[in-house]
Amino acid sequence: MNDRRNFLKTACKPFILAAFSIPLLESCSTEDETFSSETNQDNNAIIPREPIIIDISKNTFNNLQDVGGWLNYLEENILLVRISEEEIRVFNNSCPHQGNKDKWSYSEGIFECGYHNNRYSDNCTGSLTCYEASLVDNILTINF
Ligand code: FES
Repeated sequence: MNDRRNFLKTACKPFILAAFSIPLLESCSTEDETFSSETNQDNNAIIPREPIIIDISKNTFNNLQDVGGWLNYLEENILLVRISEEEIRVFNNSCPHQGNKDKWSYSEGIFECGYHNNRYSDNCTGSLTCYEASLVDNILTINF
């Protein structure tokens, strides 16, 4: 008798209801759903937009003056990294994991999102959406 009581106390509620032929749609799992494909799809959607032109000599873009410098330009939702004297690469700053945009770090060719520490290459062949960008003197033109 005690075994039966213990079982009923500790067993998953839906399992007990199912045992008594009561229909249910509830799961025994209590884990939160961490990954949301709907969120990923929404946040990673590529929305057509006009090209933007940035004068990187302005103070906001000081970090891009030296090779290896980078910037999360939240006003335009882009990550910029100075690859060489002639090249700045531009990426969507929406993390491919869950779409967060504001906890990026960058080191040695790798962007890392601080939310779950996923890492993405700066080589335009990885998961980050890469945009076409051309640099002439201090004028950076980005096509989306
Ligand atoms: S949102 Fe999870 S790693 Fe960026």
